[in-house]
Amino acid sequence: MASSTRRSFIRTSGLSALALGASGALRNVADAQSSTGTARLVVDSARTVATLDRRVFGSFLEHLGRAIYGGVFEPGSALADAGGFRRDVLSEIRTLNVPIVRYPGGNFVSGYDWLDGVGPSAARPTVLDRAWNSIETNQFGTNEFLSWCRAVGTEPLLGLNFGTGTAEKAAALVEYCNVPSGTKWSDLRRRHGVEAPWNVKRFCLGNEMDGNWQIGHMTALEYGRKAADAARQMRAVDRDLQRVACGSSGPGMATYLEWDRVVLEECYDVVDAISLHRYFGLNSDVVKDDARFLASNLEMERQIEEVAAVCDYVRGRRKSAKRLWLSFDEWNVWYRQTGGNGRREKAPHLLEEVYDLRDALVVGGALNSLVRQANRVKLACLAQLVNVIAPLVTDATRVIRQSIYYPYAWALAYAKGQVLNLVTESQTYEVASIGQVPFIDVAGTIDPATGNTALFILNRDLENARALKVVWHDGAPARVLGADVLTGTNLKAVNTLDAPSTVAPRRLDTPRPASEMTFELPPRSYSVVRLAQ
Ligand code: AHR
Repeated sequence: MASSTRRSFIRTSGLSALALGASGALRNVADAQSSTGTARLVVDSARTVATLDRRVFGSFLEHLGRAIYGGVFEPGSALADAGGFRRDVLSEIRTLNVPIVRYPGGNFVSGYDWLDGVGPSAARPTVLDRAWNSIETNQFGTNEFLSWCRAVGTEPLLGLNFGTGTAEKAAALVEYCNVPSGTKWSDLRRRHGVEAPWNVKRFCLGNEMDGNWQIGHMTALEYGRKAADAARQMRAVDRDLQRVACGSSGPGMATYLEWDRVVLEECYDVVDAISLHRYFGLNSDVVKDDARFLASNLEMERQIEEVAAVCDYVRGRRKSAKRLWLSFDEWNVWYRQTGGNGRREKAPHLLEEVYDLRDALVVGGALNSLVRQANRVKLACLAQLVNVIAPLVTDATRVIRQSIYYPYAWALAYAKGQVLNLVTESQTYEVASIGQVPFIDVAGTIDPATGNTALFILNRDLENARALKVVWHDGAPARVLGADVLTGTNLKAVNTLDAPSTVAPRRLDTPRPASEMTFELPPRSYSVVRLAQ
């Protein structure tokens, strides 16, 4: 059923902005509102949720389509450096300051032999990638990726093959990357010209192994046992690792949550986190209803709370002192370019989603949810980074920023320090599958190092500008450092290689600093406001 415009007010506070009317968790605060629907936000620097781990703004690069070849790596191009890395793309990602990048998959990893991608380039085999029916030349492999990470200034999150790969081969990759010398795999790395170990600290134990599309798909019990075995072997190689178990691919799976429970009952003691994935709009009618689509992040937040509950259930059953954190290591809008057949080409055009303004608003909402859930989500990856369902798109000579680039860039630049436990009061609209959805969705951080506050504000109202009164519990801020908004009259507006600035932010008008400040938020908008205390 489509969303309805029946309006009421709700107050959200604490970790979640979930507005499930039926839960009774939220108070109706209609009395507190003016008849014009001014929303209200209380900011109290003493009320914080958690320290924000910037790794929640990570991203993802898969051997898929033109993400690697023609994306980050293009030897022979006038734009490539000595290592074959595209300098323009590298510079964009360095500017973004992406903290962590997951690699090499995704579905690709479940058929990938990492040994094919190391050693002299000329000796590397060209193989058929069975995940995307594409030709993989292996000219970019583990060492190229890790050296690219250094050049970009990001941290690697390496995926392990749990499809055709063994636990022994997973541990061998850890040895290849992290042991200084004197063992079979570390000496192989040195023969490959990499003397110093890479010290990779974070690994994903497989990818979406609950899905029948995955090479080597298995039951939760089989996976949980394999994950426990691999995690133990990896720890024998390097005690200082963080290992992410493969959680359910999403709430659409018949085994959602049950998969997570069974897996964790097998491997809880030897892993640090479990993964979550979510693609907004994929295989659903949600995209037909703008108001409904703009509420997608509330479902992401619900998913986080449900998976966290399963982790804590298993923790309780095991009487474990350890509390797992969550790795939301694939998320984005994705519903248009879903065909995954590369027709046995090298670097085919696959999953090249063109993002519009509406998608950018959904991405902004998702970032708000990740910030609000910072006490549990310690790592997340926007899937993906270049060309494939990505904020950056290249051709042979250019790189452009898609609409979704902007909310992502703002989070990376301005969300810092402590996550604020904000109290937001907003009018709502009803979405049948969710409940009451606030028009105004806010997340915020305060950086103890500078005293600066950043507020990220989604106005889901498709028709009207909305006023937001911000009440500063600590008194008036000293000054407004900046305020930007992404909005427009056409939700379908996109950026293209030839018209790269159709969807771009503009300055948001701001009131003078005071203990109560009212911001006017345009309809269909996502804004960031930065203030100094
Ligand atoms: O990101 C694209 C694909 O989506 C990944 O390869 C897979 O893990 C997910 O299903």
